[in-house]
Amino acid sequence: MPVINRFADLQSDITAWRRDLHEHPELLFDTHRTAKIVADKLREFGCDEVVEGIGRTGVVGVIHGKTNKSGKVIGLRADMDALPIHETTGKEYASKTEGSMHACGHDGHTAMLLGAATYLAETRNFDGTVVVIFQPAEEGGGGGREMVEDGMMDRFNIQEVYGMHNMPTLPVGMFALRPGPLMAAADQFTIQVEGKGGHAAMPHTTIDTTLVASQIVVALQSIVSRNADPLASVVISVTSFETESKAFNVIPQRVELRGTCRTLTPETRDMAEAAIARVAENTAAAFGATAKLDYERGYPVTLNHEDQTAFATEIAREISGTEAVIDNVDPVMGGEDFSYMLEARPGAFIFVGNGDSAMLHHPDYDFNDEVIPVGCSYWAKLVETAMPA
Ligand code: NI
Repeated sequence: MPVINRFADLQSDITAWRRDLHEHPELLFDTHRTAKIVADKLREFGCDEVVEGIGRTGVVGVIHGKTNKSGKVIGLRADMDALPIHETTGKEYASKTEGSMHACGHDGHTAMLLGAATYLAETRNFDGTVVVIFQPAEEGGGGGREMVEDGMMDRFNIQEVYGMHNMPTLPVGMFALRPGPLMAAADQFTIQVEGKGGHAAMPHTTIDTTLVASQIVVALQSIVSRNADPLASVVISVTSFETESKAFNVIPQRVELRGTCRTLTPETRDMAEAAIARVAENTAAAFGATAKLDYERGYPVTLNHEDQTAFATEIAREISGTEAVIDNVDPVMGGEDFSYMLEARPGAFIFVGNGDSAMLHHPDYDFNDEVIPVGCSYWAKLVETAMPA
């Protein structure tokens, strides 16, 4: 079955909503304008219940089917926030907010879920309840976690939850997913290295902190190559190396290293955290310096549940055909806070092709409006199949 025809009629409206959101990007939890538009539209479509302010600026809409013999409740989730990037697309609907842009396509995700909600509220061709979830702060703020902690799952009796993200390089009309880990746990760390500062021409009177910190940067990569199972996935990236001064003739007293650690299983995550501490502290000790690790756990692994992933795969195949769905795609080492919703309820996260666009988080990136009927059809078909009327 190809895309649902009704979405061809709605495409110009949904595109207009998407471009309006694109022009007015909002960061993290400050998605006030976006949330208001979402809530107003959901009411306009005739959602049975619309609740704002869940997880600070999150919005939830409830749509009942024609009947409710199944008692099933399915959650569909979109994210609403943008990124602190200066847009360079030059599009007529480019960001009007200096320094912010929708560089991850969350404008498209929000518009597509609104499109699906329009259709589901007007047809109600299902037996059960749909909960449409619009979350703030996916880009580092943990908006998904906040909505879960706010009691969303219990309050709306959500039994299963589904999410979708666009993927550049994957052709439009294609889907990709896999059971098990799809996206990584994303942690961050800071290492304070302290030696003994002094005159750069008299290194023997110092403990050279820059040399010690450099050894730590190099040694950390041995965790990936020597401590981790070669078949497990670990990324350790040191992304910042900061000394106290920029002088040419001073060995600094302190150096601060920062970085990210990405893993796909709890075991690898625990191993990496312990190993970073061990390597940093003992490498420093070997030179007579000290290192102190501050390790902060971020988003957990995005873990797709077996049954719901098989179901999502079947829906994607009905929309796009068997060949257009990659059901064993390689995991991505980026993080995603839909992971908190998948910790709370069984469900599946799916990638939908964005075609030949710039990569996510690039200043030239733009959501591809051709994806709209594909994504909307996936949502609608998922609901009508999971809860047949
Ligand atoms: Ni994103």
